[in-house]
Amino acid sequence: MNVMTTSKLEVVPLSKHIGAELRGLDLSQPLSEADVAAINKAWLDHIVILFRGQRLSQEDQLRLTAYFGEVGALGRPPKYFPPGFNKLLPKIMMISNIRENGEPIGALPDGEMMFHHDMIHHDLPHNGTMLYSLEIPTYGGDTLFASGYAAYDTFDPALKAKLEGKKARHHYNYGSTQKGDGKGTEAFAQSCHPVFRTHDQSGRKSTYVNRLMTTGIEGMSDQEAQPLLDALFDHTEKPEFIYRHQWKVGDVLLWDNRCSTHARDDFPADQRRLMLRTTVAGTVIPT
Ligand SMILES: [Fe+2]
Repeated sequence: MNVMTTSKLEVVPLSKHIGAELRGLDLSQPLSEADVAAINKAWLDHIVILFRGQRLSQEDQLRLTAYFGEVGALGRPPKYFPPGFNKLLPKIMMISNIRENGEPIGALPDGEMMFHHDMIHHDLPHNGTMLYSLEIPTYGGDTLFASGYAAYDTFDPALKAKLEGKKARHHYNYGSTQKGDGKGTEAFAQSCHPVFRTHDQSGRKSTYVNRLMTTGIEGMSDQEAQPLLDALFDHTEKPEFIYRHQWKVGDVLLWDNRCSTHARDDFPADQRRLMLRTTVAGTVIPT
């Protein structure tokens, strides 16, 4: 189903519940007010929006990000940027496995990541994350996006009733402690947020816990909470709620952290992968 929203912009859904490719715009040029409104509507409607075949400067990526809200600060400064990519720090982060003198030049360098919401361990996680793809491996490294709306709408009513109104605890643990291999990092920030989050713009509810970072439920023993959380993790990660994105160079993709989770597939460690990441700052988490 193709839906024309402006004279130039075409919105093509990528799966039943999440994702749309937006065609017809050159993002290296400033957008009209009508197009900015249309891409914001598409983002709200589809959670993940994709633009293919773009060539952006760092200024372009920051301008594009600002169409969706205040550009967010980075959680941590990058250590190094290659020539031509160091001017507008600190609001652009490199996601890369490329190594200089044995050290990764970007964040989150290697391998797969379980489903998560970015920055959920903060009091006010950012609303969205944008990735602009510059180098990709020949295979692997897909990003999977799961709709939290679809998961909420279809979750078992009896289990939902037990979790409605509760808050979950989250902590930063980008690593693999939960796999038991001891490679996880120490928690350095943690937070509590509603298990089911109401989106401040759409008014819809979505699941707001994830397998990578959620550790428990407030006011509930771990014995009682863990089976409920496991059921919710399993439900939110069902294939029917997911869009799998296979990256191409020149892709610009923005996802809504308020109502979706994402995960990354493994990819060959000896092939270069480089993306530039910006964020849309958080606004409010309704309680
Ligand atoms: Fe992420």
